[in-house]
Amino acid sequence: MEKIAVYPGSFDPITNGHVSIIERALNIFDRLIVTVAVNASKNPLFTIAERQEMIREATREYPGVIVDTFEGLLVDYVAKKKIKVIIRGLRAMSDYESELQMTLMNRKLNRSVETIFMITGLQWFYVSSRLIKEVAAAGGCLKGLVPDVVCARLNEKFTSSGRKAGRD
Ligand code: PNS
Repeated sequence: MEKIAVYPGSFDPITNGHVSIIERALNIFDRLIVTVAVNASKNPLFTIAERQEMIREATREYPGVIVDTFEGLLVDYVAKKKIKVIIRGLRAMSDYESELQMTLMNRKLNRSVETIFMITGLQWFYVSSRLIKEVAAAGGCLKGLVPDVVCARLNEKFTSSGRKAGRD
């Protein structure tokens, strides 16, 4: 039977840390639905469609990846798809507290769904979408931290509004 899991997130934008989790999850699961949460962030930089495009481009070499979007409760989305596993990435200890809260809440909402945590590659331990946007807005170098497509999109976003991003 095909093993399938859901990897949810804001992905605003996808980073190499996310790609590392996707790669690792695909070592265990045949298919991984990378799903972008609508409304997770009140002030996103990228639209849902832009985020999905970047995920597609960044994961082109992984045929097991399916890109999707969801609205409302994650456990409802997962149940509707008849999937039992949620993948979440863990970096430093600072992630632990909120991930624990989220996992226990999801478990309360639906006992048949399990969350599996995966650890990103060491080089992505301190990479977050929030910091990526902050550095891009200030014109810092993001080479190696995000997929090339994201670097280009950040450049477009910030240079078109008169600022610089992604310089070497
Ligand atoms: O990338 P993020 O922002 O850490 O992802 C968080 C996300 C989108 C997975 C989480 O906010 C979520 O599942 N939102 C959907 C609403 C929901 O189900 N909330 C209850 C879970 S505690």
